[in-house]
Amino acid sequence: MAIILSNEYVATDIYHMKVAYTGNVAPGQFFMVRTWLKEPLLSRPLSVFNYNEDVIEFLYQKVGEGTRLLKNAKAGERIELQGPYGQGFPITRSNYVAVGGGIGIAPLYFACKRIKDKYPRKHLTVYLGFSDQPYMVEAFEKIADDVHVDVGGRITDLVQVSKDDVVITCGPEIMMAALCRQIPEENTVYVSLEEHMACGVGACLGCSREGAQGKNVRICKDGPVFNREVIYR
Ligand SMILES: Cc1cc2nc3c(=O)[nH]c(=O)nc-3n(C[C@H](O)[C@H](O)[C@H](O)COP(=O)(O)OP(=O)(O)OC[C@H]3O[C@@H](n4cnc5c(N)ncnc54)[C@H](O)[C@@H]3O)c2cc1C
Ligand code: FES
Repeated sequence: MAIILSNEYVATDIYHMKVAYTGNVAPGQFFMVRTWLKEPLLSRPLSVFNYNEDVIEFLYQKVGEGTRLLKNAKAGERIELQGPYGQGFPITRSNYVAVGGGIGIAPLYFACKRIKDKYPRKHLTVYLGFSDQPYMVEAFEKIADDVHVDVGGRITDLVQVSKDDVVITCGPEIMMAALCRQIPEENTVYVSLEEHMACGVGACLGCSREGAQGKNVRICKDGPVFNREVIYR
């Protein structure tokens, strides 16, 4: 059990939670979280938004019962965290382009921070797309070299990549699939996928889906971050 340090409203249905936690966490990994005892039965997967000095942060959208209970949790209350689970974003000495759609920006922030911490001279461009109210843009502006924001349109229309840029993306799958189609094959692209999860550790197959060449992948264990070639080709 961990203790919630804060749980604040950010924008309509979007909340930012800080939890006291110590451990090794990689950008793109997730935790199965719950603040409730019995119902809903399953814990809910949340990506790590940030991790720093024994504080882990989540950015989440209230969509159903689990996230409604999460948003009602108060500082000082307990939260169960199982994890960190899954494969995160590989971080190499490259220029990066990060493309996030809506709440899909959540795992990208920690990845962007880690990229600039490790390779401050490498260029980082961030594209953030929102259907209406933008959020957390200032946080990205503090760490990235360029931040482009779109509200109500298609963020993929703005995205430009150079040869050798590594692209990381998370958001609606329609956005990520479109992005993968428009980015040259030579660029490495990592997509972070979502699926309903039960165990979170690769045991129940509840999150498996067909990837490229008909090969099944488990989002929780083999992902949630995949090289696009595993999913889309
Ligand atoms: C690896 C991973 C990381 C995630 N990280 C974050 C994060 O950082 N922030 C965040 O806000 N959310 C994240 N999610 C999504 C989050 O887990 C779901 O929104 C949450 O489980 C919904 O629970 P609920 O009880 O509130 O809603 P439910 O009552 O379970 O569902 C409400 C509605 O949302 C849909 N839904 C639920 N889960 C998903 C899903 N995984 N994919 C698509 N639709 C879904 C349901 O079909 C239903 O229509 C992540 C999911 C995965 C798999
Ligand atoms: S959630 Fe059980 S295998 Fe992925």
